[in-house]
Amino acid sequence: MSATQTNKIEIIKSAASKINEVDFANLSFGSVFTDHLFECDFKNGEWQNPVIKPYAPFLCDPSSRVFHYGQAIFEGMKAYKDTNDDVWLFRPDENYNRFNKSAVRMAMPEVPEDIFMNGLNQLLKLDQEWIKKGKGNAMYIRPFMIATGHGVIANPSDEYKFMIILSPVTSYYAGEVKVLIAEHYSRAANGGIGAAKAAGNYAAQFYPTQLANNSGFQQVIWTDDATHTKLEEAGTMNVFFRINDTLFTAPVSERILDGVTRKTLIDLAKSENIDIEIRPVLVSELVEAAKNGTLKEIFGAGTAAVISAISGFSYQDVYYDLPKIENSVANQLKEKLTNIQNKLEEDTFGWTVKI
Ligand code: COI
Repeated sequence: MSATQTNKIEIIKSAASKINEVDFANLSFGSVFTDHLFECDFKNGEWQNPVIKPYAPFLCDPSSRVFHYGQAIFEGMKAYKDTNDDVWLFRPDENYNRFNKSAVRMAMPEVPEDIFMNGLNQLLKLDQEWIKKGKGNAMYIRPFMIATGHGVIANPSDEYKFMIILSPVTSYYAGEVKVLIAEHYSRAANGGIGAAKAAGNYAAQFYPTQLANNSGFQQVIWTDDATHTKLEEAGTMNVFFRINDTLFTAPVSERILDGVTRKTLIDLAKSENIDIEIRPVLVSELVEAAKNGTLKEIFGAGTAAVISAISGFSYQDVYYDLPKIENSVANQLKEKLTNIQNKLEEDTFGWTVKI
């Protein structure tokens, strides 16, 4: 290992790269990590000791608050390599701002922009050989923060660890995605933490999603907790519906995550002259549209999955199959988005940022 200091970040390089052990043609999403990680600790009221070091397990006191009270947040971002081998981030400012909003909601300290962005840029530069070119390939970036302060007293920690890890990825979902509309369980409630990217939001989805899996569905479409009449998110993604030639998606709220892919697709749809309405969408509207043949598409949108087409849904024990259509709006928007992300077409929006 060798240690150097760049822009105040200490860099400790791994003795040998693991890259030759990786089968890049058969990646399982989020299961392979690059040689290095970025770490910065919050102690005595300040962020200190930013370091890039070899990816490895680390020690945590068993009484660390994260294990007992779930004080943990994360982000999902991606970087892409263009045909000139330049590396680009997609709307990193959006993820940075949302990370700190999540931190505030979970009574955690905000991470300063220079620590987040310099750490991310330098880590990506160091491990850039792991980013493969070509559409479908990306580096999934997982910044996260955990409460490391000792003691099982139920109040916010006084110590935290911020880390960034990198995982080369291809697709998230393989195969058909059939969904169950939630009639009992909820992902979020008014006044809760649904709008934050808090780890517990995802843990709370696992059990209802397991029940859905056991009945042959891959994901759950979450509805509002009070009435279960409004369609809000799909699995870990925001959700869009196409009825006739209009796209619909719910407005963000205390219960719905302000997804970067969601807001990007809204702008892309407008620029492509696709009719789009941002308003609460009722389960009854969806069922009615499925029955009368006007429901054309449902798709989820998120960083990990990009756009994930849904092939059918179940509600009150009735399954509604969606038509198989060519030239779907989902494909049209995905093509446009991934072309911009991979620098295959001009980014007139200024979303892509070179590292
Ligand atoms: C993402 O789309 O990046 C997410 O955060 C979802 C994640 C649970 C894989």
